[in-house]
Amino acid sequence: MIVPVMLAFFAGMVTPLIVFGIRRRWGKYFMEYLQDSLDAFGNGDYSLRMYEYLRRGFNREIANSFNQMTSRIETVVDELSAERDVLEHILHNMTTGIIYITRGGTIEMVNEAAQLMFRKPLEHWTKQDHWSLFRNYHLGAAIDNALLFGTPWQSELNLRDTQTVLIRLVPVPSKSKTAMHGEVAFDVLMLCNDVTEFRRLERMRSEFVANVSHELKTPIAAIRGFAETLLDDEAPAEVQKQFLQTIYDESNRMNALVSDLLELSRLEAEEHRIQLLTVPLMDVVERALDRLTQVALARQIQLELEPFEPVNVWAEDDLLLQVFLNLMSNAIHYTPSGGKVTIRCEILVDRVKVHVIDTGIGIAPEHLDRLFERFYRVNRDRSRASGGTGLGLSIVKHIVTALGGEVGVESEVGKGSDFWFTLSRMSRLPEDKSLSMGGE
Ligand SMILES: Nc1ncnc2c1ncn2[C@@H]1O[C@H](COP(=O)(O)OP(=O)(O)OP(=O)(O)O)[C@@H](O)[C@H]1O
Ligand SMILES: [Mg+2]
Repeated sequence: MIVPVMLAFFAGMVTPLIVFGIRRRWGKYFMEYLQDSLDAFGNGDYSLRMYEYLRRGFNREIANSFNQMTSRIETVVDELSAERDVLEHILHNMTTGIIYITRGGTIEMVNEAAQLMFRKPLEHWTKQDHWSLFRNYHLGAAIDNALLFGTPWQSELNLRDTQTVLIRLVPVPSKSKTAMHGEVAFDVLMLCNDVTEFRRLERMRSEFVANVSHELKTPIAAIRGFAETLLDDEAPAEVQKQFLQTIYDESNRMNALVSDLLELSRLEAEEHRIQLLTVPLMDVVERALDRLTQVALARQIQLELEPFEPVNVWAEDDLLLQVFLNLMSNAIHYTPSGGKVTIRCEILVDRVKVHVIDTGIGIAPEHLDRLFERFYRVNRDRSRASGGTGLGLSIVKHIVTALGGEVGVESEVGKGSDFWFTLSRMSRLPEDKSLSMGGE
């Protein structure tokens, strides 16, 4: 009897104690679990969520709040890192060089364009002082000024003699915690744009204008001089006729120059509007031969066309004709009488290479590189005396490039020259199917 009473007493007294103890233990586990979760979260594991244990002592509300918080923060962090990725892509693929300098004067960020412009790899930039990087007094002083006083600056800088870079310094008010109370601090955003090509074009343009004026001045001076003499003097009829002839020749020269210039500017303006069509090469060659046979005959020069298989090229026939006329008239012009001018069309797999070969005076190697430049003439006086403007070859190059081809020349003084250009070939002949692309 006494035993069940004791058992009941024992159960009644001890069970609550045990339950209380277990609850406390579970409460302790929960606190440890929460602590671990917070630690992991603090270390950047934003995807962490707390499991819900169906135990007493497990505080579901706290776990839920924790989970809500981590889920929200995970979303925000994802959004921010996606935004950061986009910005990084933009920065790294920009052609503008970007360098971020912090208020202490050290480089915080540099993009690839800037690394390339200054020819320094990333390791040379990170946390470096700007003075040790740029080593340019004006730029260094301007950066310091921008850092200290927030003064913006802009100037061009020549790098390695070959590159001109436009640099802009944009001061950015710094929120750095280390800024002294009341002191305004600035970071500096340095933007660098490569303006080399722009400056080169500007220089070319002004050189071109100077050249044109110079070329026009000579015939104008001659015409004026002879006209004045004719007005003043009672010269014999024969001399008068000679002067008038000179005036006529000079005006022709001016006319040729002006037409060439107009042609060049028309080509430049219409380059993007050229209609490329399938043109039978032979038709154009024949038109050119028709136009120049008489000229060659008059100068006692043999004009020969080497036979070639019919082929179509991708071109604009009037422009292509102009290329032939320019090269062939040069060949006739710079070949002494008794010489020979040959047209040869090499048919390659995907291109046609046209040669205009003469047995003329030839060109010394030092001139070959510059021959296709505007107004370039090997022998200025000789070319000028014969009415040459020095624009023919630059027109040729312009047209061939616009048609997608290349031009070139091989020459030997006293032996002759071989001016060549390529064109895209259109219809392939059946036997070419066995040839590999790009082969000749
Ligand atoms: N076949 C050639 N043989 C030798 N020299 C040549 C030949 N073709 C061109 N040249 C040289 O190249 C220079 C430039 O040729 P280009 O055709 O551009 O000008 P040009 O013949 O002087 O004048 P134009 O603009 O009236 O043609 C010539 O002045 C000449 O010195
Ligand atoms: Mg010429």
